[in-house]
Amino acid sequence: MAPKKDILLQPFQLKHLTLKNRILSTPHEPAYSKDGMPKEQYQLYHEAKAQGGLAMTMFGGSASIAPDSPSVFGQLNLATDDIIPYFREFSARIHKYDCGLICQISHLGRRTVWDKADWLPVIAPSRVREPAHRAFPKVMDMADIARVRQAYADAALRCKEGGLDGCEVLQHGHLPEQFLSPLTNFRTDAYGGSLENRLRFTIEIFTAMREAVGPDFILGVRQG
Ligand SMILES: Cc1cc2nc3c(=O)[nH]c(=O)nc-3n(C[C@H](O)[C@H](O)[C@H](O)COP(=O)(O)O)c2cc1C
Repeated sequence: MAPKKDILLQPFQLKHLTLKNRILSTPHEPAYSKDGMPKEQYQLYHEAKAQGGLAMTMFGGSASIAPDSPSVFGQLNLATDDIIPYFREFSARIHKYDCGLICQISHLGRRTVWDKADWLPVIAPSRVREPAHRAFPKVMDMADIARVRQAYADAALRCKEGGLDGCEVLQHGHLPEQFLSPLTNFRTDAYGGSLENRLRFTIEIFTAMREAVGPDFILGVRQG
């Protein structure tokens, strides 16, 4: 009898990307960034995974997309074009192994601190204090929403220009879920109240990202 094929080792089609098997490494921040950039140590950590035969490695335990989402656990700084050359080097290094490469991106919203980096106010849909980081957030006005939406689009484009296969938005606990959850969203405008309104921010950032990167780039979302 022919041996049964292990489904884990079969290829998987993810949009345009054919993954050679179904084994991947999910995003987590090893805090190997230097100056907010994925330099050699960061890249070598993922290269070792690729050498081991993974089909795709995901990095950036939520790379920060804006200055008012400062790093609290060594995140990459995806709010600047300076990261693009590092991404190009990183993607060339990983693609050599027929391994996909995706960056997780995020705005932390209220889940960060104000007294890091540029000392900007922490922002959130409503003024609900986050127990872990203890900031009292500034309520996002329409200009903040437009600015952060654009920051997601710019970050996705930087991922594309850096040669990555895609990017993933971290939803849970971070800004998109702070809009989605009725525990942290008490807005009375078009971004609060009904489920449709609470989802508006997430849908708008994905629309903006898709417009920025075009149809072929992988865009994902992680909701725990
Ligand atoms: C130190 C550490 C940091 C992590 N950071 C993130 C993160 O930033 N974003 C995320 O989506 N998951 C994060 N995770 C969760 C992992 O992606 C993964 O889901 C978890 O380790 C369980 O993996 P397993 O089911 O393969 O054991 C983190 C996990 C660890 C251990």
